[in-house]
Amino acid sequence: MSSYLISNVSVVGAAPTDVLIRDGVVAAVGAGLDAPEATVVDGTGLVALPGLVDLHTHLREPGREDAETVESGSRAAALGGYTAVCAMANTSPVADTAGVVEQVWRLGREAGLVDVQPIGAVTVGLAGEHLAELGAMADSAARVRIFSDDGHCVADPRLMRRALEYVKAFDGTIAQHAEEPRLTEGAQMHEGEVSTRLGLTGWPAVAEEAIIARDVLLAEHVGSRLHVCHVSTAGSVEVLRQAKARGVRVTAEVTPHHLLLTDSRAETYDPVYKVNPPLRTAADIAALRAALVEGVIDIVATDHAPHAVEDKECEWAYARPGMLGLETALSIALDVLGPQWDLIAERMSRTPARIAGLEGHGLDPAPGVPANLTLVDPAARRTIEPAELASRSRNTPYARMTLPGRIVATFLRGEPTVLDGKALK
Ligand code: DOR
Ligand code: ZN
Repeated sequence: MSSYLISNVSVVGAAPTDVLIRDGVVAAVGAGLDAPEATVVDGTGLVALPGLVDLHTHLREPGREDAETVESGSRAAALGGYTAVCAMANTSPVADTAGVVEQVWRLGREAGLVDVQPIGAVTVGLAGEHLAELGAMADSAARVRIFSDDGHCVADPRLMRRALEYVKAFDGTIAQHAEEPRLTEGAQMHEGEVSTRLGLTGWPAVAEEAIIARDVLLAEHVGSRLHVCHVSTAGSVEVLRQAKARGVRVTAEVTPHHLLLTDSRAETYDPVYKVNPPLRTAADIAALRAALVEGVIDIVATDHAPHAVEDKECEWAYARPGMLGLETALSIALDVLGPQWDLIAERMSRTPARIAGLEGHGLDPAPGVPANLTLVDPAARRTIEPAELASRSRNTPYARMTLPGRIVATFLRGEPTVLDGKALK
């Protein structure tokens, strides 16, 4: 195996040092390291972070390989600084059996760009009626530990309770897409002043908050682990704050787009801004940012949701919800949080790796640790050109925006997947 010497690099914001990678692990960290056999990567001006970990990625394979594949999504992830992603179960067929989760896991291994950890569906076909074979997925080669019907809410409280009880046996987690479906029938965007003016049916904040409130009580009752996907409202933050104060085993994520973009984007009627849950208000964004800094929201997760052109470039009402995220997440985090490297490492690598139970990920470079890391140039600025993205889809809400930060290199177990900002496979 090869050796790499990353010279003069700031490890998570600290004073510059050298990092030596050998045989897939970090061999040494310290100033003036000497390794004649190693390939030198000049880290001057760069920040090394533990490889980013995304808890919420839609890879679309099997079923919609025109929108994304495990391979193209893995490449987008590596270019975004990720070394592991959790693949959501709303594929076609749905990842509700050991066979499908093993297929996704195997495709991830073959692509070899990031570790792809499949998430299993909670209910058969995401239909919300019968529990899927959670135990068989957990016992499969994919070793599934997180289950989610994401895209749909597990709305039936009895089924949610059973799912929470079931996964306790192997310390699994139910990741909930919190949306009370009766309150969002026909909804097109956030319910508020903008939706009233545009005459579009609204998706009220309470549809999210009511499910989170119910589910933290169920998780508390059962003593099980709940993860709340894409938290989008100030009210949800308050429900989570109270639950955490009581010691409920709940974690939560926020997406880059919910930290940056408001519902006023809908005024353009450009469906690139249609997403579920919808973009909210400036007051919600302020509460989400504060909660992320404070830790009431544990992590940033992308909800990378690629969609084919015909599913996105049509009338608002017919467009699918969702936006790309993997290749821009670190830049948005840098824009929103500033160069708070330890916080960024915590929210985008260490904590998501811990929630997902991904061994060898989310660890700061130190001797003996698997060399999963990414190098960021914080001084660089780049203008997002959709055609240049590695994703098979083009639905980025950041088109032609100039964002801070650039991923220069990503290493997966000591081998570069990205160098000089370019994917190596
Ligand atoms: O906007 C979204 N898109 N929200 C979801 O929950 C699902 C996702 C998708 O699969 O496209
Ligand atoms: Zn969702």
